[in-house]
Amino acid sequence: MALNTSALQHTRWHRFDSQAAINQAALSRILAAAEAAIATSGSFLIVLAGGSTPKAIYQLLASANADWAHWHVYHNDDRCLPVDHDERNSKMAREAWLNHVPIPANQIHDIPAELGNIEGAKAYSETLKGVRPFDLVILGLGEDGHTASLFPGQAVDNSADAVPVFNSPKPPVDRITISQQRLNNTHEVMFLVTGAGKQTAVDQWRSGEAIPATLIQSPNGVDVYCFGVALHP
Ligand code: 6PG
Repeated sequence: MALNTSALQHTRWHRFDSQAAINQAALSRILAAAEAAIATSGSFLIVLAGGSTPKAIYQLLASANADWAHWHVYHNDDRCLPVDHDERNSKMAREAWLNHVPIPANQIHDIPAELGNIEGAKAYSETLKGVRPFDLVILGLGEDGHTASLFPGQAVDNSADAVPVFNSPKPPVDRITISQQRLNNTHEVMFLVTGAGKQTAVDQWRSGEAIPATLIQSPNGVDVYCFGVALHP
């Protein structure tokens, strides 16, 4: 597999010794990013990761103190399932956090994945039109090195801010993802990586293999918060 050495230079690895420690560090990072963004631009644009890893952090946010009126929430991807399906990333975030804090409803931007991947992607691209660079993009890492719904062996589609995904190796097959290019239009990126299942992907990443996670870059580099994986030299 090709080497992506530039990605290696701007990636900072942070290893934590407990789930509580990584959760607390991620919470602090998010709240600090929010404070800085609101002070600078009057708003905080955060893009949420799906999957299971971030849920505990979203639950901590549910009881955090923040200037919620100035938060704008987006999702980096979602699965093409009914709105109330338990596997929807937007449902997980609402139940763990967003239903419990006073972020204005029109500032929470679920991906309309229930419309199907083509129509839903078009609608979300409209939602993202004119939106300034994100302040913080939170991402997970799949065991195969995927992130958001950018999967190994699939062409990178930067034709719009949100694009349809077909034949996803992680069910369901139809998804919608914010494109690589639009995810990279952000001030900060924080990956959350927990569990031995991610070890191979982390080793590939650190040895310079161009797994999909290395597609994500930002001017300020990328921070990878890890627990339960070893950071081999
Ligand atoms: C999804 C996510 C996906 C996820 C990784 C890690 O919709 O599944 O966007 O990219 O972040 O697969 O998932 P876990 O946190 O469940 O390991």
